[in-house]
Amino acid sequence: MTTGCVILAGGAGKRMKSEKPKVLCELLKKPMLGWVLDAAEDFGFDKIGVVTGYKREMTEEYISQNYDKISTYFQDEQKGTGDAVSRAAELIKSVDRVCVLCGDAPLMNAETLKNALTLHEKTNAGVTIISAEISNPFGYGRIIRDNSGKVAAIREQKDCSPEEAEICEINGGAYWFNSAELLEALPKLNNKNASGEFYLTDCVEIIGNAAAYICEQPETIAGANTRKDLFELNNTVREKILYKLMDEGVSFITLDGIIIGKDVKIGADTLILPNTIITGKTVIGKNCEIGANSHIEDCTIGDNVVLDNVKAVSSTIEDDVKIGPFSQLRPGCVIKKGVKIGDFVEIKNSNIGENTAVAHLTYLGDSDVGRGVNFGCGCVTANYDGVKKHRTEIGSHAFIGCNTNLIAPVKIGENAATGAGSTITVDVPENALAVERGKAKIYENWHGNFERKKK
Ligand code: UD1
Ligand code: CA
Repeated sequence: MTTGCVILAGGAGKRMKSEKPKVLCELLKKPMLGWVLDAAEDFGFDKIGVVTGYKREMTEEYISQNYDKISTYFQDEQKGTGDAVSRAAELIKSVDRVCVLCGDAPLMNAETLKNALTLHEKTNAGVTIISAEISNPFGYGRIIRDNSGKVAAIREQKDCSPEEAEICEINGGAYWFNSAELLEALPKLNNKNASGEFYLTDCVEIIGNAAAYICEQPETIAGANTRKDLFELNNTVREKILYKLMDEGVSFITLDGIIIGKDVKIGADTLILPNTIITGKTVIGKNCEIGANSHIEDCTIGDNVVLDNVKAVSSTIEDDVKIGPFSQLRPGCVIKKGVKIGDFVEIKNSNIGENTAVAHLTYLGDSDVGRGVNFGCGCVTANYDGVKKHRTEIGSHAFIGCNTNLIAPVKIGENAATGAGSTITVDVPENALAVERGKAKIYENWHGNFERKKK
């Protein structure tokens, strides 16, 4: 039996009041659509398709930059969820069973989809709705059951009678269909309802033979139509992720201000301190201390690393490295084992060799630094000539004096040194000392000092 998945992502999401399509609004700093695509990939469908519409270029760009083998279908006008699904007819035709998901219900997971499919097959239904029982059903479609308890229809909020509005079993917006029956039902939809839209939910009545898989955890189907919905989802998911990390051996003294993305991996005995945000595909090893006030995005970090008030993006930090307080790694850095980076240091697109020390107030850009190098306070690699970026090379065990400017492109040989305050524009051979500064001028009996003495 072949399976396909159609994710609906065409709506504008006016209630979000965003310049982006709603499905790109973020939950823990990852677009909601990404969460749904991850669930679909986890399930292992033979085919996955996304229906785009409002600002399709943005949605398509997000998909192509982050996922492979996802086809997209364009809905030119947002005429409802039923119309949206019909745009993916080509995908539906090519599989036996099709699962329809909403791009704005990010907590769906592969296990729920599997359980619902099992029920779908067991009951021989034409459509199986993933539903949930919740205390405040306002805004969701209600599951209408007949006297025998069988699912008869889905009624949208706007079309509910007062009695129907009392029903607390809601449509999660996720369904399994037999493809052939869905394809037969779609052309029969009409838009004679309160919204004037072609509702996918009307397929339930048209197909007739419907079942519902009721989720044990109602939050699985929670959708976000407004910023407030998103805020609530963020709260729920944030704590869930942090508690799961605790189960895996990660420590927290408090959860205040700590935000960790769903794809982040952290080793045991690592302590995360307050106001720390860790996102993207970051992997952190064991026995580290991260925070307070740190922001780590898409980094690979080894074991026994200490990051105190650090921002680091798209970089690799090996074992036993200490950084901070108040320092930044911009994209493209590789910081080797045992490196020490102190306060107010910025490093960009550079390789820093083992046990090198960059203790204070230094900028290193586009640099290749060997092992055991020492930077004095206030060193700068001048990597930009106003037109192009150039690299600086520093050999192992070099000693860069305080306030050295290295004007790239320039090479400092192994074991070479620069005098404090030097501006180095030419290559320095290994073992040499380069000093470049004006001769001191002494003005004897200088008037200014007599004036000061009187004070
Ligand atoms: C929908 C369901 C409702 C269910 C709820 C669950 C219908 C008619 N209603 O309502 O029963 O309880 O989801 O969250 O299906 N979309 C398109 N094209 C369109 C319209 C929507 O692609 O023309 C997409 C949206 O981007 C969104 C999804 O379909 O990702 C759901 O649309 P939305 O308008 O949010 O439906 P709800 O009112 O939440
Ligand atoms: Ca919705």
